[in-house]
Amino acid sequence: MQVTTLPPDFNASIYAARRARLAAALGPDSIALIPTAPERSRNRDSDYLYRHDSYFYYLSGFTEPNACLVIDSRGHTTLFCQPKDPEREIWDGLRLGPQAAPALLAIDAAHDIANLDTQLPRLLENQTSVWYPFATHDGLEGQVAMWLGKVRARVRFGVQCPGQQHDLCAVLDEMRLFKDAHEQATMRRAAQISAIGHIRAMQLSARMLRQGQDVREFHLDAELLHEFRRQGSQYPAYSSIVAAGANACVLHYRADAAPVRSGDLVLIDAGCELDGYASDITRTFPANGRFTSPQRALYELVLAAQEASVAATRPGARFTDPHEAAVEVLAQGMLHLGLLDKNKVGSLQDVIEKRAYFAFYMHRTSHWLGMDVHDCGSYVESSPNKPATPSVRQDPLSGEAIINRESRVLRPGMVLTLEPGIYVRPTEGVPEQFWNIGIRIEDDAIVNESGCELVSRGVPVNPDEIEALMREAIP
Ligand code: GLY
Ligand code: MN
Ligand code: MN
Repeated sequence: MQVTTLPPDFNASIYAARRARLAAALGPDSIALIPTAPERSRNRDSDYLYRHDSYFYYLSGFTEPNACLVIDSRGHTTLFCQPKDPEREIWDGLRLGPQAAPALLAIDAAHDIANLDTQLPRLLENQTSVWYPFATHDGLEGQVAMWLGKVRARVRFGVQCPGQQHDLCAVLDEMRLFKDAHEQATMRRAAQISAIGHIRAMQLSARMLRQGQDVREFHLDAELLHEFRRQGSQYPAYSSIVAAGANACVLHYRADAAPVRSGDLVLIDAGCELDGYASDITRTFPANGRFTSPQRALYELVLAAQEASVAATRPGARFTDPHEAAVEVLAQGMLHLGLLDKNKVGSLQDVIEKRAYFAFYMHRTSHWLGMDVHDCGSYVESSPNKPATPSVRQDPLSGEAIINRESRVLRPGMVLTLEPGIYVRPTEGVPEQFWNIGIRIEDDAIVNESGCELVSRGVPVNPDEIEALMREAIP
């Protein structure tokens, strides 16, 4: 019988080491509060599937709701969590409980979460600073004020009330930006599972069309979900995009019921979450397994842009370098293929400077990836302690003022996506053969000592390889 809510391979020392690093960063006489996420009602008495808070999980590995971590600058950790309750556990499942928590989580003390309001003021007494994540938990600021009020009410007994509050996100975001070996291994595995899901969706599409079946986007979505779950992923890391034909030009399209037609491309942007870590993969493939020549021309352009972004992803490069590398290739290709008219938009340099490529490529090439799909971590070098000297430029399209800041320097252990794309809506002056084609190719890259490791290439990007694996699927 299961006696703990922790997974069998749970390694408490990973989280203890992170808490020790955090404690060292807080400064003397400081204390950090990290609540987990609330449960959220979906409708009537059904809740959304519970997902822990990423900061809380990063420091505890604990996935139960109704919990809060308190870490002081000596590294002393107290957990407030749900008490054991045989009646509730019949309905909702096992709880670790405050009695078992210290030994199993390698923490110093644990209490019933119901005692938070009475015990927390005691833990805040005689501290100088209190740290907690700002603007991430509804009502937390008010709770902290209430707890501090209780401390202040006891100053006549000689206790001291913390006089400073700091945003814990700044410290934890920087820690989370660099993935340790355990995190990298989990992310590799998450990406491998997602890659197989993508292959299965591609193969199902070809097979069903060949058999004359009515293929819908949800058939392909089901294939992804099936693979994610059968390999132990808890859920998709974000709402899967399965977009057939023109739907691929809607950037945040969701998997729906639209028909997947022979001759169309399908864009799938889907990745599983495994043990708290996201993967994020996009592939675009011909529904029937054969690219038409206009589709292939655009596909090869996006692939070349992605290759340029991969080559630019290495330690010492800037976060913006992969984007700039991709944009240059895409812009050149747009001029070459006639998506942009040289006579109207000018030279390659003009296209880049005036952002004329934006008509067909309107998002960035990368974001950090980690526990959150758009993971935390600063994209600029400056920090609140070391502000940059900013200059201001005007955006050529919107006219808005943009503060230039030094882009983040890539270092080993950072994980980012590389996801250029091209989206062609029906537009006068654009060759009709490209209308309604949307293509994105997205991989997950771990920056290493010499460049980067693409952990999501278990599903190919080469168009010949995609055609080959889709041919295999056809009986
Ligand atoms: N799937 C979300 C993204 O690619 O950013
Ligand atoms: Mn992405
Ligand atoms: Mn994506």
